[in-house]
Amino acid sequence: MSDDIRFFELNTGAKMPSVGLGTWQSDPGLVGEAVAIAIKVGYRHIDCAQVYGNEKEIGIVLKKMFEDGIVKREDLWITSKLWCTDHGPEDVPEALNRTLRDLQLDYIDLYLIHWPVRMKKGSVGFKPENLTQPDIPSTWRAMEALCDSGKARAIGVSNFSTKKLGDLLEIARVPPAVDQVECHPSWDQRKLRAFCKSRGVHLSGYSPLGSPGTTWLKSDVLKHPVLKMVAEKLGKSPAQVALRWGLQMGHSVLPKSTHESRIKENFDVFGWSIPEDLFAKFSDIEQARLLRGSSFAHETLGHYKTVEELWDGEL
Ligand code: A2P
Repeated sequence: MSDDIRFFELNTGAKMPSVGLGTWQSDPGLVGEAVAIAIKVGYRHIDCAQVYGNEKEIGIVLKKMFEDGIVKREDLWITSKLWCTDHGPEDVPEALNRTLRDLQLDYIDLYLIHWPVRMKKGSVGFKPENLTQPDIPSTWRAMEALCDSGKARAIGVSNFSTKKLGDLLEIARVPPAVDQVECHPSWDQRKLRAFCKSRGVHLSGYSPLGSPGTTWLKSDVLKHPVLKMVAEKLGKSPAQVALRWGLQMGHSVLPKSTHESRIKENFDVFGWSIPEDLFAKFSDIEQARLLRGSSFAHETLGHYKTVEELWDGEL
């Protein structure tokens, strides 16, 4: 295995570039430059979301990249996500229109339901009183209509447990192409991965480095002895090893960075591989979810009383 994991084929037949630039917590003022650098380095996949609050700046850069002939629209893969306040079927097309306006695009390659969580329309922030009852089947019907219209070339979900993904597959006319979830060597999504594989849904991994910059997470994924050892043996960085591990596991990876050297480093994951004996060591790493979504669970308000319910026990 060497230079062979540039794309993953989705159940739509589309080929999604395997490494995408993450933009969560990429600050306005920095994200545009990061996207420009990434595209120049060779990234062809940018992972966005309306709630990240930076799609306008990304749109300005994309427009310039197209105008300057640096990349063609059809050679780029752009993902965005429907925020929890827009689950109402009548709000779904409007939310995508807003994202398309901000990104200055006329279609999106992949549009995801960001969370299986609903918040009151127009509400702001993560206050428990904003939470309300989700109705995923009715939101999904509206997502399917976006697919029919061609404005979303593929649709999918994010942060769906195995159970919730299974429930959705039961009622979907257009099956979700992707479930985008936290995934790195310390949370390898064993159960969901097997289910996705059996049902033809592509698993896409966010926080593939364990989000080391998110101070409230106390992540030390990149410091794990297995990663350090493999990195030393291969002459790579722990971040590169974490990303290459993801590709060899069969999922796409969405590392975020706003620094040129790291954007480059994170794309230098082709043309080499983790040999089988070292790859096997990853399966012994103790597992723990980092992003628990505690603001989406409340004893009396909303739908999920506990984080266990949100993840259906996958914690
Ligand atoms: P920065 O943006 O300052 O480069 P994840 O993608 O798992 O959410 O991780 C993103 C975090 O990891 C950001 O804080 C980012 O910082 C940092 N990061 C990105 N690339 C690397 C790397 N190659 N080595 C170490 N940290 C990195």
